[in-house]
Amino acid sequence: MKDNLVCILIGPPGAGKGTQAKNIANRYKCKLVSTGDILRENVENNTELGVQAKNYIDNGNLVPAELVAAMIKNTMELYGININYLFDGFPRDIEQNVLFEKILNEFDLSVKAMIYINIEDDVVFDRLTNRRICPKCNRVYHLKFYPPKFDNLCDDCKVELITRDDDKKDVIKKRLEVFQKLTHPLVEYYKKQNKVIEINGNKNSEDVFKNIISGINCFR
Ligand code: AP5
Repeated sequence: MKDNLVCILIGPPGAGKGTQAKNIANRYKCKLVSTGDILRENVENNTELGVQAKNYIDNGNLVPAELVAAMIKNTMELYGININYLFDGFPRDIEQNVLFEKILNEFDLSVKAMIYINIEDDVVFDRLTNRRICPKCNRVYHLKFYPPKFDNLCDDCKVELITRDDDKKDVIKKRLEVFQKLTHPLVEYYKKQNKVIEINGNKNSEDVFKNIISGINCFR
């Protein structure tokens, strides 16, 4: 079995996965694979996958496991096996994990650790209803904590910021339910293997990052 760093980054919606993912990937020279980002890109470009995924995303449900697993396999075939990987938001339930372990096995890889960022439900609503995104560069802002310098414009692109379609209150509620019902059991699965780095996501993002780094270093 190869000794590459293969990590899963998981947590409730709005936990700060996307915010942390880029920094973690830079720090450990990982290829970052975010299923949410890839799916949204497909929806935007109206690909066959995007058309199939849109309804699930808009309603806060998980996109079917076989579609997401095929997407992951294609990505890994493209980037190869001699690199580190950080999977943001995948696998997301036991069914996806079975398919993921099969794929990893084919590549002679295995999961080193799951980084689980945990936050409370009321923080989730505050984070997501105040989140704004640059449609051009995908930079993520928060109106209170990480606001743009100029009213509703991306600091870098000067393009008007947008709200994600699934950041409506009823969809956030559904995403939280899906997390508890389907994703939480997967956290328990990896806990039994002593592979979970549990992080308090309620702190500021610099502290969250420091705690993630300390956690990962224990696994290296
Ligand atoms: P996905 O895109 O993965 O969304 P999510 O898991 O719901 O998480 P978010 O992207 O909403 O939040 P985040 O944790 O990245 O938080 P962020 O850093 O932006 O998935 C979307 C949908 O796609 C799913 O519902 C599903 O339909 C589908 N999908 C995706 N993956 C799938 C899979 N594997 N299988 C099936 N379907 C799948 O932070 C949030 C806000 O808080 C931002 O404004 C940020 O600036 C701010 N913030 C971050 N950290 C802090 C901090 N420490 N303090 C204060 N503010 C902070």
